[in-house]
Amino acid sequence: MQSTEDPKKQMPVAAEEGRTSEDWLATTLRNVGEGIIATDTSGEIVFMNPVAEQLTGWSGGDAQGRALMDVLGLFEESAAASNSLPAKNPIFDLLAGESRSYTLISKTEEHTVVEVECFENRSADDLLGSIVVVRDIRSRREMEGRVMQSQKMEAIANLAGGVAHDFNNQLLVILGYADELYARLSGEDKEQALEIKRAASIAESITGQLLTLSRRDVAQREVLNVNEVIREVEPLIAHSLGRTRKLATDLGSPLGFIRGDRNQLKQVLLTLANNARDAMPVLGELRIESSTLEIDAQSPAARLYRPGWYVRVRVADNGEGMDKATLSRIFEPFFTTKKTGCGIGLGLSIVHSIIVHTGGYISAASEMGQGTSFDILLPSVGTFRGIGEVSESEGTGGEDSAPTVLLVEDEDSVRRLMHKFLERAGYQLLEARNAEEAEDIARVYDKPIHVLVTDVVMVGRTGLELAERLMPQRPDMKVLFVSGYRHDTLEHHALWNRDLNLLPKPFPASELLRRVQILLS
Ligand SMILES: Nc1ncnc2c1ncn2[C@@H]1O[C@H](COP(=O)(O)OP(=O)(O)OP(=O)(O)O)[C@@H](O)[C@H]1O
Ligand SMILES: [Mg+2]
Repeated sequence: MQSTEDPKKQMPVAAEEGRTSEDWLATTLRNVGEGIIATDTSGEIVFMNPVAEQLTGWSGGDAQGRALMDVLGLFEESAAASNSLPAKNPIFDLLAGESRSYTLISKTEEHTVVEVECFENRSADDLLGSIVVVRDIRSRREMEGRVMQSQKMEAIANLAGGVAHDFNNQLLVILGYADELYARLSGEDKEQALEIKRAASIAESITGQLLTLSRRDVAQREVLNVNEVIREVEPLIAHSLGRTRKLATDLGSPLGFIRGDRNQLKQVLLTLANNARDAMPVLGELRIESSTLEIDAQSPAARLYRPGWYVRVRVADNGEGMDKATLSRIFEPFFTTKKTGCGIGLGLSIVHSIIVHTGGYISAASEMGQGTSFDILLPSVGTFRGIGEVSESEGTGGEDSAPTVLLVEDEDSVRRLMHKFLERAGYQLLEARNAEEAEDIARVYDKPIHVLVTDVVMVGRTGLELAERLMPQRPDMKVLFVSGYRHDTLEHHALWNRDLNLLPKPFPASELLRRVQILLS
């Protein structure tokens, strides 16, 4: 263990006025986002910062004077919840700059995957002891696991798709000749030709599924209301569950629209429902829930998910559940625990592939005997009450009459901010990242759009072109252009001259709302 840095460099350079440098140091150590434990030369703890207290479950006071390893319970990283063995020689054989990961088990039996580094604490010629830095790397591990899982899936899907493709060609030949023979033969021979045809048809349907797994361009993208799709498959699901198992839905409103393939989304829901049915032999309940969720760029979740708005669909059963080993493999193609002939293990791998190619995420949680739940996140293109939801709550009036704003802006952070302003003011929002997406939305949204708020200069079509293309179908729609460019550019001269509504950036929330309000009144 050697400190390679010049100790002077690590001194606080600019302690704030009025504070002693000791205070400053103590505060700094307390606020570092990593666990820090300092020991004396005999390995007894002299200091612990709050992060270290939290990770170990020890208070700094109680830990003081205790041997480091009595407080810092390090186990091999793979240690299971029970029967885990303490790590051999933890920390002590670490070289300077080297880090190693362990499972840290706290006083209260909390398991955390951590990375540990160790430094000599030296002041000029004196060795004061050591400093141990403990870093919580759970979310990094989770992310690595997810990347590995999706790379594995991608590779298997590509392989399976390639084999299926070649196989399909051969099946075509087999089926073709079997047809031919079937037509020509008679009696028992004809029967045998029919058997060949049957077997080849089954094989064809399997290769068909494998092809969906690896193909990504067949999806028919459209702007969809997820609640509407859920409602459309409800009768099918209820039928598949039979009379003894219940189906309950809790659909959020307002809910976002997504861009996806309607049939694929139905397939996802049906596959999950069929699996749930198989996991609930007689009685049970399947719940389908939808809601919206924002992943904030500052939140820890942003390490695992792209920030932004999502439609969240939860499909949960209270069936037999599964153990950890099964759960970790359910998305693999051909993984099945079902009897031969009852399942081929493609259902969930196709679901996974569909969700990933829609730009979303899927995860599963399960406990033996407790049931299983699947969580799906799909990127949302706006939040509002959807088609078919308005009529239901017609009696309540009020809220449903909120005007709808179609917001088009290609800068994510700006769009999110404007979304917040407008949503808080009670508008229903449709949202698009460019003119093309906005047109898609306008095409399928069959209710009035009261105001189009659009950026002028965007990649692809401009806001002006967008407005011109939408106006013929929506003559009553008002338009507010938002622009970050100076007004003296040519294009904007034209804008001003044509007496169009233009809101220059930057603008305060109140100004945006005022301008929209004026257009509506
Ligand atoms: N809701 C659930 N409850 C318990 N186990 C489940 C659930 N959903 C999936 N599984 C487990 O995951 C495995 C894989 O599911 P998947 O849908 O991919 O294939 P399968 O249902 O076995 O076959 P098929 O190709 O016919 O769908 C199942 O065999 C089962 O062990
Ligand atoms: Mg299945």
